[in-house]
Amino acid sequence: MKTIIEPFRIKSVEPLRMTSAAEREGLLREAHYNLFSLPSDAVLIDLLTDSGTSAMSHNQWAAVMRGDESYAGSPSYFRFEQAVRELMPFKHIIPTHQGRAAEKILFDICGGDGRIVPNNTHFDTTRANVEASGASALDLATAEGLDPELEAPFKGDIDLTRLEDCLQENGDRVPLVMLTITNNSGGGQPVSMACIRATRQLCDKYAKPFFFDACRFAENAYFIKVREPGYESKSAREIVKEMFSYADGMTMSAKKDALVNMGGWLAMNDDDWAMQARNLLILTEGFPTYGGLSGRDLEAIAVGLEEVIQEDYLQYRIKSTEYMGNALLRMGIPIVRPVGGHAVYIDARSMLPHVPVAQYPGQALAVELYRAGGIRGCEIGTVMFGRQKDGGEKPADMDLVRLAIPRRVYTQSHIDYVIECFEEVQGRKNGIKGCRIVWEPPTLRHFTARFAMI
Ligand code: F0G
Repeated sequence: MKTIIEPFRIKSVEPLRMTSAAEREGLLREAHYNLFSLPSDAVLIDLLTDSGTSAMSHNQWAAVMRGDESYAGSPSYFRFEQAVRELMPFKHIIPTHQGRAAEKILFDICGGDGRIVPNNTHFDTTRANVEASGASALDLATAEGLDPELEAPFKGDIDLTRLEDCLQENGDRVPLVMLTITNNSGGGQPVSMACIRATRQLCDKYAKPFFFDACRFAENAYFIKVREPGYESKSAREIVKEMFSYADGMTMSAKKDALVNMGGWLAMNDDDWAMQARNLLILTEGFPTYGGLSGRDLEAIAVGLEEVIQEDYLQYRIKSTEYMGNALLRMGIPIVRPVGGHAVYIDARSMLPHVPVAQYPGQALAVELYRAGGIRGCEIGTVMFGRQKDGGEKPADMDLVRLAIPRRVYTQSHIDYVIECFEEVQGRKNGIKGCRIVWEPPTLRHFTARFAMI
């Protein structure tokens, strides 16, 4: 059959609130044109993030009831630990309330002044945590990965030549090497097994630990299955296990590929780092067998990890993202190609060439999508990355709008509606105006900055 259906049926529904164009205009004004400031019940199709927005299955909800809320030694922790270790065989598995808490602990241990952390591309919280420790976050995307129009299978790969140069020149300053799978800030693009293996070899050569930022590990594994020669007949489970067999540790946001609304973990093989991590965990997250989560959250993660590697799920997931991306491409809307795993990224700078980069074309397009149809996407560009440490502003490499697709939440007709809104916006794109920032906080400005339209 050529129709790839949602491989589930709906048991519980959540009504959507329709808004009028006039209502949306007022809401935009009140939110100072920052979509993070909108009340989410005034958003019709929320593509702000795929993080924490998954629909849980009946089996996950059943597992929630099994949650044991003992402070220490809960059986829910041991079920969680076993489910993680089944796929990611690390010695120490330390739950945290979400991914960034794992990052904060990891870089408190191994970051610090003068250190350098190489990564294919740091996600913004990862970069912020590396930098908060005093270290520098070095992005080493490949030239392919930075070319939004180029069709290539593994644009999430790290540039191995530049990684080796960094290890050779500054090896003593590098505490670990990290790969983000899939590469979120680089367009949701996957990292190949060949690159993972080669990174392992470089880490062996220079005696460095190798960590994954593994939020979307299952999507990455599925791309390896369908794109990398030699993996077509392997199961997603086997591919996941091979990926993690090369690593020494990981940070994880369970809000993505563990199909839950909250959670994360930090895992590693090193005993000394693990002891330090558990000591830090107790300061801010909690006792090592719950780490900022409830027993019921740990149960839901354990079930989610089994569900996320099912191939009918993964096929539906990757194909439905592609469905939206391909429809936009047919309309002539420039998107990052090929379509990533969890999101479609629109190249707003090239879609709106009349809006100067200093007037944030990504933000302008995101606002217009809400105006047109109550759709919420997210600017990933100069608003997010432009502010420099010295106080100046520099254009980001790209000005994108990300439409991230929550897992198991929207049906094909919701996506057809999004596509229709794009037709309307495309039709009047020459009239879309840029914006300016009228207030911003000292860090991570995109969350709370206020804008005025020009
Ligand atoms: N690493 C990556 C690659 C991520 O995409 C995220 C979160 C994190 C780390 C941090 O995890 O949110 O659980 O603390 N990404 C979300 C997003 C917020 O919308 O892409 P967290």
